[in-house]
Amino acid sequence: GARLYHEKVISHYEQPRNVGSLPKTDIDVGTGLVGAPACGDVMKLQIRVNEKGIISDVKFKTFGCGSAIASSSYMTERVKGLTLDEAGKIKNTEIAKELALPPVKLHCSMLAEDAIRSAIRDYRSKRSKLPETQSNAGFINVTQNTTTGETVTSSNLP
Ligand code: FES
Repeated sequence: GARLYHEKVISHYEQPRNVGSLPKTDIDVGTGLVGAPACGDVMKLQIRVNEKGIISDVKFKTFGCGSAIASSSYMTERVKGLTLDEAGKIKNTEIAKELALPPVKLHCSMLAEDAIRSAIRDYRSKRSKLPETQSNAGFINVTQNTTTGETVTSSNLP
């Protein structure tokens, strides 16, 4: 009912979930660090991604207003168990609605949307910089010699 809903919203303000940090240098951790130009508040949100591409752990630290803290707390619970694509699609308007944020606090929920996207971007760019030997996926590279038209295949598969 309405009362339960209200309590659920309040608890994100009073008892934020998943406050803390993950080791930034871990290869399976993505870190998002964003700021709100309007007020100068800052949010750090980190995700750990398992071998199936699912977000298995989330932590945040927000130096900002209560709405920003509640938005990041809500976001951490929302993205756990999702794929990166699913998590990247979460809109700040959903957070604002869930937390019943007033219009002047919309930018606070925007911070949470920016933070998860930034964490996903960081994770992906980290993975793409991995040397082949450390990557757990094999690759097959097919290129065509432009002069001879011959196809050259290289791979790291056994
Ligand atoms: Fe700036 Fe809320 S007032 S994030």
